[in-house]
Amino acid sequence: HFHVDHASADAVLDAAASGRTAPVIPDYEGLDAYRALGGYDALLDLRAGGDWEAVQAKVAESGLRGLGGAGFPSGKKWGFVRSNPGPRLMAVNGDEGEPGTFKDRFYLERVPHLALEGMLIAAWAVQAERVYFYMRDEYPAVLEILRREIAALERAGLIEPGYVELRRGAGAYICGEESAMIESIEGKRGLPRHRPPYVAQVGLFGRPTLVHNVETLHWVARIVREGPDVLSAHERNGRTGLRSYSVSGRVRSPGVHLLPSGSTITDIIEAAGGMAEGHVFKAYQPGGPSSGLLPATLDDVPLDFETFQEHGSFIGSGAVVVLSDKDSARAAALNMLRFFESESCGQCTPCRVGCEKAVKLMQAPRWDTDLLEDVCQAMADASICGLGQAAPNAIRLTIRHFTDETASAPPADNAATDQSLEGKS
Ligand code: NAI
Ligand code: SF4
Repeated sequence: HFHVDHASADAVLDAAASGRTAPVIPDYEGLDAYRALGGYDALLDLRAGGDWEAVQAKVAESGLRGLGGAGFPSGKKWGFVRSNPGPRLMAVNGDEGEPGTFKDRFYLERVPHLALEGMLIAAWAVQAERVYFYMRDEYPAVLEILRREIAALERAGLIEPGYVELRRGAGAYICGEESAMIESIEGKRGLPRHRPPYVAQVGLFGRPTLVHNVETLHWVARIVREGPDVLSAHERNGRTGLRSYSVSGRVRSPGVHLLPSGSTITDIIEAAGGMAEGHVFKAYQPGGPSSGLLPATLDDVPLDFETFQEHGSFIGSGAVVVLSDKDSARAAALNMLRFFESESCGQCTPCRVGCEKAVKLMQAPRWDTDLLEDVCQAMADASICGLGQAAPNAIRLTIRHFTDETASAPPADNAATDQSLEGKS
């Protein structure tokens, strides 16, 4: 028999239309394999008469927090959404745009049904009438997997046709900010909204909306299937839980490393096989460019949500980039600000103008630190969303920890690094 897989045919046509080659689909666990191991039994049991507050309590007991990067307690979010009158909606944030973050992709390319079952459990808990899955277009294999598996869920009768709608992002970093993502799903330009009201109150099409990151939902399914211990049994440096660190840079084995939440950069480098041959650990970015750069001397700080506040940084989505003695901290910081300048939505002046001015000031041989601090202050205080509020971290931390580089003209070899880092965000 000749079987036409419509989802694959769509992918080929899409790829042809965009001038890309069709994506190579990795070997992942499909619906049948997932169900053979008890997948979706928990969802069906809950739908048959489960108590959503009991599930919420389990999620709270596990300690699960929003893994997009903000760490908001996941169970609490369900309560906020439920406290607003329906109809309610749900959106899954798969716009994994923070440079250096690739954990959502990692899970979706291997075990997509954990995130999909978690999504349907959360949708059931808040009685969402519909779910929008917003996926970044730069992950064509993931998009194809989701197309196939959402169709398989429909065929298996686990969801009504059209209950889950897959939406493709268009490459804008800012569309990962939840309210900009909502604008984008509504068909508008992705501009962040003022908060409050939170999306739990006024979200998609004005309805109370539950927004979760992909990995958060992966863990919802595991908590419901395996119990809260799946997270809470892990403990390190006084913190409980697990974190999927996306590790890149000057390490031997870059990739996603699942470690206890209180792990330090020393633990992470060790899990990533140690420093690459010939490189000496110098600095690290703990959670994407939004978290700035920290020096190797801060190698004993547990990398968890609150830990870095006192250091003027945060762990965010766990995008750990390791820099060595071969890298220039000021060049890396400049690269981060260039990224923010290019991705700023331009809606508010402190961020739009601030990023542009910062990039110019950071190209001077010596940084004018007083003027840069004025720009940072205005951006942090008056920007509408996290992009403009967090962009100063990279400037401030570089000034604080890498004064030798910012107070003097970069040597010729660092100027070369300046250029080699350009455009690689
Ligand atoms: P946030 O702390 O403002 O909000 C986090 C979540 O909690 C949101 O869903 C928000 O609606 C909800 N929330 C907060 N307070 C609430 C309340 N009182 N009532 C109801 N809901 C409430 O953080 P934000 O701006 O959403 O995210 C910032 C984080 O995103 C940063 O940590 C950054 O690292 C991360 N990020 C991650 C990226 C990625 O690719 N994964 C990309 C860019 C940033
Ligand atoms: Fe747009 Fe930047 Fe303002 Fe956010 S802070 S709304 S990205 S201009």
